[in-house]
Amino acid sequence: MTRPDATSPQLDYETDDIVLECRGVSQWFGENKVLGNVNLRIGRGQICALVGPSGSGKSTLLRAILGTHPPKGGEVLMDGKPYRKPHRDRGIVYQRYSLFPFLTAEQNVAFGLTLDETTIPHRIFNFPAYRKTKAEYLLRAGQLLDRVGLGQAKQKYPSELSGGMCQRVAIAQALIMRPKLLLLDEPFGALDESTRESLQLMLLQLYEENLKARAAGKPEPHTILIVTHELNEALYVSDRILGLSQYHTAGKDGATIVYDKPAPIFKPNDEKDLTRFNEQKEILLKSVFSDETLQHHSEFVSFWDEVSAARAEIVGS
Ligand SMILES: Nc1ncnc2c1ncn2[C@@H]1O[C@H](COP(=O)(O)OP(=O)(O)OP(=O)(O)O)[C@@H](O)[C@H]1O
Ligand SMILES: [Mg+2]
Repeated sequence: MTRPDATSPQLDYETDDIVLECRGVSQWFGENKVLGNVNLRIGRGQICALVGPSGSGKSTLLRAILGTHPPKGGEVLMDGKPYRKPHRDRGIVYQRYSLFPFLTAEQNVAFGLTLDETTIPHRIFNFPAYRKTKAEYLLRAGQLLDRVGLGQAKQKYPSELSGGMCQRVAIAQALIMRPKLLLLDEPFGALDESTRESLQLMLLQLYEENLKARAAGKPEPHTILIVTHELNEALYVSDRILGLSQYHTAGKDGATIVYDKPAPIFKPNDEKDLTRFNEQKEILLKSVFSDETLQHHSEFVSFWDEVSAARAEIVGS
C-alpha cells in the first residue's frame, strides 16, 4: 500500500474527465436544511468513499445524484449536462439487496438489460430474435457473476444464497447496465465481518480493472461513490475520501463537503494494515464527525488542488 504522491494513480490524472458534478446543491424539507451548497466533482475511474455523521444527508445526496429526488437548490450534472431524472447511466445498490426470488442469480443480473433494451412488442412479435438477445444477456450476466466470484452460483435462487452472495448479485445487477456512475449506500452494512472483507476486496479488484484500462489508454470502466460509516472501510476501498457534515462554520445552512483528500491505495494482495493511516483517521474524526471544532468548510478540501500540484510536479520534472 502507498501513501499518495505525485505518481499515485489518483493524483496522476491525465485529464479533467469529470463524470459527475454537484453545483451548489441544496436540499431541505420544511424547516430542516439538510444539504447546503454542496460542490463536488467526481472524475472517471475514481472510487470515492463518502463518510459523515448519521443524519448528515449522505443518502439524501445520493438520491439527488441518482435523480429520484432532485435538489431544491443548485444542479447536478453528468458529463457536463444538468439532469433531474433517474437514468441507466447511474446505478445504485442499497444495504438490503432486492433480488427477484423467482429468478436465478443469472436471470436476476440479466433482468435489467432485458427490460431496458427490448420493448414488449419486440419480445412478443419477434420472439426468435428476442430469444437470441436474451441468451446473450444471460451470457453477459454469467460472465459478470464469474467476475464477482459467484461463478458456481449462477443457477441458484436468492433463497439458496447467503446475504453476502445476494449482495454480490445486486452489485453485478448494477454493473451489467455499465453505469457511468455506481452509487453504493452502505452496501456491506448488513454483512458479517468476513463477508464484508471479501466484498471490499471485490471493490479493490474493480479499481485494478480501472488501472489496467488506463494503462491501455482506454476509459476506466468503474466510477463509484460508496457511502460507508466505517472509516477503515473508507480508507481501504477508495482512492479518495469525502466527508459530508453539518459541523462547519456555516452549518446552520446544512451539511456540505468538509473533507476531500486522496485515500491510500491498497492492492488486492496487500495486507489490510490500516494502523499507518491513524493520523488521517484522526483528522477525519475531528473535521467531519466532531461538533466541537467547527472549521471553514474548505479547510480540509484539497483533492483537486493536490491533483493539479501533482500534474505540475510531473510536468516540471
Ligand atoms: N423525504 C424526506 N422528508 C423529510 N425529511 C427527510 C427526507 N429524506 C431525508 N430527510 C431528512 O434528512 C436528514 C438526512 O437524512 P439522510 O437519510 O440523508 O442521512 P444519512 O446521512 O444518510 O444518515 P445515516 O448515516 O443514518 O444513513 C434527516 O434529518 C432526515 O430526517
Ligand atoms: Mg443513509
